[in-house]
Amino acid sequence: MKLFFLSLTFCSIGFYATAQRTIDQRVDSVLKLMTLDEKIGQMNQYNDDWNATGPVTLDSTKRQQLRNGQLGSLLNCVGTRRTRVWQEVAMQSRLKIPLLFGQDVIHGYKTTFPIPLAEAASWDLEAIELSARIAATEASSAGVHWTFAPMVDIARDPRWGRVMEGAGEDPYLGSKIAFARVKGFQGNGLGNTNAVMACAKHFAAYGAAIGGRDYNSVDMSERMLWEVYLPPFKAAVDAGAATFMNAFNDLNGVPATGNRYLQRDILKGKWKFNGFVVSDWGSIGEMIQHGNVKNEYEAALSAVTAGSDMDMESRCYRNNLAQGVKDKKVPVRLIDDAVRRILRKKFELGLFDDPFRFCDAQREQAALNNPAHTAAARQVAAKSIVLLKNEKNLLPLSKNTKTIAFIGPLVKPKKQNKGFWDVEVPGVDSNFIVSQWEGLQNKVGNTATLLYAKGCDIEGDDRSGFAEAIEVAKKSDVVILSIGERRDMSGEAKSRSNINIPGVQEDLLKELLATGKPVVVLINAGRPLVFDYTAEHAPAILYTWWLGSEAGNAIADVLFGDYNPSAKLPISFPRSVGQVPIYYSHFNTGRPAGNDDDKNYRSAYNDLSIYPQYEFGYGLSYTTFQYSNLELSKRKMRIHEKIEVSVTIRNTGAYDGEDVVQLYLRDKVGSVVRPVQELKDFAKVKLKAGESKTLRFVIDKEKLSFYNQPLQWVAEPGDFELMIGASARDIRLRDRFELVQ
Ligand code: BGC
Repeated sequence: MKLFFLSLTFCSIGFYATAQRTIDQRVDSVLKLMTLDEKIGQMNQYNDDWNATGPVTLDSTKRQQLRNGQLGSLLNCVGTRRTRVWQEVAMQSRLKIPLLFGQDVIHGYKTTFPIPLAEAASWDLEAIELSARIAATEASSAGVHWTFAPMVDIARDPRWGRVMEGAGEDPYLGSKIAFARVKGFQGNGLGNTNAVMACAKHFAAYGAAIGGRDYNSVDMSERMLWEVYLPPFKAAVDAGAATFMNAFNDLNGVPATGNRYLQRDILKGKWKFNGFVVSDWGSIGEMIQHGNVKNEYEAALSAVTAGSDMDMESRCYRNNLAQGVKDKKVPVRLIDDAVRRILRKKFELGLFDDPFRFCDAQREQAALNNPAHTAAARQVAAKSIVLLKNEKNLLPLSKNTKTIAFIGPLVKPKKQNKGFWDVEVPGVDSNFIVSQWEGLQNKVGNTATLLYAKGCDIEGDDRSGFAEAIEVAKKSDVVILSIGERRDMSGEAKSRSNINIPGVQEDLLKELLATGKPVVVLINAGRPLVFDYTAEHAPAILYTWWLGSEAGNAIADVLFGDYNPSAKLPISFPRSVGQVPIYYSHFNTGRPAGNDDDKNYRSAYNDLSIYPQYEFGYGLSYTTFQYSNLELSKRKMRIHEKIEVSVTIRNTGAYDGEDVVQLYLRDKVGSVVRPVQELKDFAKVKLKAGESKTLRFVIDKEKLSFYNQPLQWVAEPGDFELMIGASARDIRLRDRFELVQ
């Protein structure tokens, strides 16, 4: 019987013979053949021998463990050559269960797209989905089955370096983006060779680390958890995310990795998630340092009971689960449930039918050299650039500009543009990345003279390059200054207490402004930086984040108006770190400050504005938009009715452009207090100069609901304020309606 099954499953004729059976039946038939050791093996994931994001356990026995059926997945193994070698070893194991290859494909594989926070600034769900689609196409061609993305953690604290990896501060925008990213990665569904499994991470509330210190504790009310931090995860489940990753943090005293409430009750229970959960790197073992378990044995028991199906790198499962079963501390049904979940995905990916279906070197070559991917990366990058300031319409620059000085430490480097979390693709160097200098050269060709000076370093206090920069500036018609962070200053374990533009870069700006030349500042960063001086004195500012491999071309497109900026901030930019955490959807309090002159015994700072430097939803265009004709289909709504909202947007400027029209609501009186405004819808609209369009939004019960005191999701009758804005502060039109019984 055993032999019969094996021959059916693992020889090519057998694949088709078994194809009529459901995946669950096929999973069960494999499970029946497995020893406990092999089952635990499937729950075990190791790092390949390179490219680590955490402490690596030196383990020369990995190959032998794989042959023994003791390894279910590898991470940080990419490229058809390398994955094929490992997969061949898996095929030497008794049951030939294929190995799963996971990788952090966070914003592109070879073709690098803007960092996720930058992409979120596009508010362009199609573009965001496309970027994930292309990343999946490239990664899957190179042997990757599974990306550890999207990170859907809401983040409201720019001191936390991982803000760069998410979609910012807002649960509504964050949910839409989570959905788009999962769809993009998984394409038309697992089983297609260009789809990879998505992994919504880090479950949950990792982004609310106290003090913005990575890995730190999270202490949060249930309501905050449900209303703000969980929605993007729920959206990922709704989009069909194949996997979840738990988190390093503890949530209200219980490490997320051993958190039964999160993983079993919410994710697998209430949300009926049928994929599997992987731990974060070593996080099962780290529960010992948390002080939540005594040793690795207890750690393994806690994690498996809580619902963590796969152990990334800690080896707690490998070394302890069998003993746990023997001691009757771990019911075999828990192990079976985890293994079923993992095997199901291997079947869905088609790996049992052909373990090498992602190892086609020719497909890899073609996918990694597809000009359409490059073109898309350039477009998405342009859509992610935020125009923060543009005095006297300094931008766009005229294509007849004769002499341009391009100054700053980020003008010439190539790799910096990739930002954090790029993939080291075997055999690919950084040459294909378009530097900002090359982008400008490509744009102006021979029509303008380009002058360069580095001016200063990103960090440090060396001013010796200032003189040359000033000389160069004096010879030019316009200066473009490219400053900011180093690409590895925002990312995992990159928390900072000082988020000012580092070094003497703003001093260099001061000197350049003193020449009297118009200066356009490009700010490159993975997080909101603090740049008071620049915000006040520079006539034009573009926030360019890290834009990926086409950064240079995209920046040039925006500088010269070939792309009219349309991005809006997905996160508030503080004036000083003292304002952090700062977010637009705060409560009113009993003593709200009406404005910055209203400080006396108010909820305000005595020494600082209550407003951020740039608010959520903010971003300028080369054109202007006028909002009018706000109409509501009714002003009294019964609970199961809907209100249709229409508003007319007109492009009143001289350029074609896109605007992100934002709809905010405020529930005026609630059984628990409600935020002063909450984003509930938005539309990105493209208008030619002079053109107008009428947009329609629908308000339904869902948009009016929140968690009341017993944490029921309810819409309470009463008055609501409706705001249509170009940002959270720039509210152009208001109205009211009432929800009636
Ligand atoms: C990170 C995860 C990542 C994993 C694997 C961890 O340190 O927190 O987000 O997926 O490493 O690289």
